[in-house]
Amino acid sequence: MKGVVLAGGTGSRLYPLTRVTNKHLLPVGRYPMIYHPLLRLRRAGVTEIGLVTSPEHMGDVVNLLGSGSRLGVDLTYRVQDEPGGIAQALGLCESFVGGEPFVVVLGDNVLGEDLTEEVAAFETQAASGGGARVLLKEVHDPERYGVPDFDGDRITRVIEKPSNPPSSFSVIGIYFYDASVFDFIRTLSPSQRGELEISDVSNRYAGLGKLSHGILSSWWGDAGTFEGLEEANKLARDLVYDELPGVPD
Ligand code: DAU
Repeated sequence: MKGVVLAGGTGSRLYPLTRVTNKHLLPVGRYPMIYHPLLRLRRAGVTEIGLVTSPEHMGDVVNLLGSGSRLGVDLTYRVQDEPGGIAQALGLCESFVGGEPFVVVLGDNVLGEDLTEEVAAFETQAASGGGARVLLKEVHDPERYGVPDFDGDRITRVIEKPSNPPSSFSVIGIYFYDASVFDFIRTLSPSQRGELEISDVSNRYAGLGKLSHGILSSWWGDAGTFEGLEEANKLARDLVYDELPGVPD
């Protein structure tokens, strides 16, 4: 399975930390933030990865990651000219993905487990009708995230940053899709904040009864705000990826 890591956007919620550098290059634990999604994918056997970032920061990101070989991955870069939303960034990867089921990880998400089991679960789903799969985590502040509404065990819709969350779960920034996602993205309209929303993509699949979900058992952090960055740094403080040379104990 191929993977996509999205590292565009402005990082404006972290100004002035992100005024001259990309959010995904800030430290989380012992690594630049972007290492975490890349290495979680690699550990799940996903090594062909499309990476989207903004024109302002593409140079720095390529300086850090190069071809990806130091991290054991094979990177293909795409430029998102304007920060038009997560779904817009994903749409840039259509030719890279090439019609097969794939996994997307948001560049500011950090987690304590590998994605091996979830990749396997989606491979099974893809072989028997396709659709999409999201991962959930119970949180104390769901209003900060996309929040699922349930009918029994089935997600009926995902609401982006609701003031009255219908559940205490966050849809975390890891998504599995079949290739019809690109047709759905083409039909999206910008939200009130002017972005093509990934929650609207989930809702297209939910409406077709084709959205499955898993629940993450490890810790998880979204490092895109000051609070989230601090929390992610605490969670990842002792995390070491043994496969990378040069990180002292
Ligand atoms: O972390 C999980 C949450 O991520 C989900 O629960 C939400 O449903 C989802 O919308 C997203 O919310 P955020 O407010 O955290 O998204 P943010 O704008 O921080 O973007 C997340 C990543 O997506 C960011 O690290 C880079 C990438 N991105 C974002 C935008 C807006 C792009 O590549 N291009 C973009 O235009």
